[in-house]
Amino acid sequence: MTSPRRAHVTGWGRYAPAQVLTNADLERMVDTSDEWIRSRTGIRERRVAAAHETTASMGAVAAMRAIRTAGIEPDDIDLILLATLTPDYWMPSTAALVKEAIGNTRAAAMDVAAACSGFVYAFATAQAYIQSGLARHVLVFGAELLTRFLDYTDRSTCILFGDGAGAVVVSAGDEAGGALAVELTTEPQGAYMIWLPAGGAKSPPSAATIARGEHYIRMEGRETYRFATKTMATTALESVRRSGLDASDIDLFIPHQANVRIVEAVAKGLDLPMERMYVNLDRYGNTSAASVPIALAEAVNEGRVEVGDNIVLVAFGAGFTSGAVTINWTADPARGVAGDAAVDPADIRVRLPVDWDSVDPIPPALADVMNRPGSIDVPLDDVVPGEPEHARQPVGRT
Ligand code: ACO
Repeated sequence: MTSPRRAHVTGWGRYAPAQVLTNADLERMVDTSDEWIRSRTGIRERRVAAAHETTASMGAVAAMRAIRTAGIEPDDIDLILLATLTPDYWMPSTAALVKEAIGNTRAAAMDVAAACSGFVYAFATAQAYIQSGLARHVLVFGAELLTRFLDYTDRSTCILFGDGAGAVVVSAGDEAGGALAVELTTEPQGAYMIWLPAGGAKSPPSAATIARGEHYIRMEGRETYRFATKTMATTALESVRRSGLDASDIDLFIPHQANVRIVEAVAKGLDLPMERMYVNLDRYGNTSAASVPIALAEAVNEGRVEVGDNIVLVAFGAGFTSGAVTINWTADPARGVAGDAAVDPADIRVRLPVDWDSVDPIPPALADVMNRPGSIDVPLDDVVPGEPEHARQPVGRT
């Protein structure tokens, strides 16, 4: 009898724009304080994409890093799944733009819309394609440019979100381990708890929708918090249970990075210490569908994941959606740093339309930050030296 095809993570990579937006910057924009933001969310700073950057360009860098880490060529990829709620355009899919940018000629490419749970939803799709024999290598990534969809007069949302991208390559293999089990949920009664009212078919963009600020993300924070703390633990546990494991068998949980208090509640719900939870939201804020793959790539590169470890990726988001996947890790963690170094963001280009003169994409409220002398010249990747030392400290250790 032949053993079933398994889906293994063979590559991982991430990209974060150079520009940092600190809590002190936000203090100058809205009625908030560093103390409030840190104590209520754990966030110290987040990244902001430069004018020349887009969801596709950030995603393409993370994707190429994952491909290099996997040791394959872009054309080995059979399927490209991009999770995002901030696509470059309504159409074409941003995945199609990335396909061209990374030099893939043969993959099917599509975007996956499940908000912050999007990466886990896309991962589950990749797993199904691989286990059914429809694909050998799938590129799964999350990329978000949220800072262009925030109302910088609304202190309850603009402090939370940041930009970035994270990617994995999921590959077919016969050896034991890899993705073990998935749990996905959607609870539409939460549909309007996190939403972006205008721009779609129900409310097409117009001067009136813009005047009403309906092109910005809106959120009921308390309701979302309640949902998140409830669903993250139950969704993660269901995926662990389906894997035939117990929560205590999990070496590291990699949760959606929305709020450290939510992560602490999940740890409590699972009766596990915070050391089993990976947290990097202090440096990135909530990057929606990019948060789990950025966190995964950092956790592996930092030596928090070893061959044979059981890990759980778990997320929640608008919809309300949630998703978790339990993975028995099989790839050499050391490959990631070399994969990162093999890709210079300056070498990756997303083709722009001919004769198309775009407007300046930087929100006026961020213009001063983006024009800060010298700040835009720091290296384009957070793995290289140059990042402020305080930003590397884990949450809680001030
Ligand atoms: N600075 C200072 N005060 C603030 C700020 C701010 N940035 N924001 C809100 N406040 C005030 C409020 O006005 C309120 O004041 P009041 O008591 O005088 O009315 C007070 O602080 C408390 O507000 P709450 O909303 O109750 O604060 P809470 O402790 O719930 O924290 C937060 C708010 C951080 C948004 C929290 O509810 C949360 O994290 N919710 C989950 C959000 C989330 O994870 N979203 C993910 C979306 S995923 C996706 O798919 C996009």
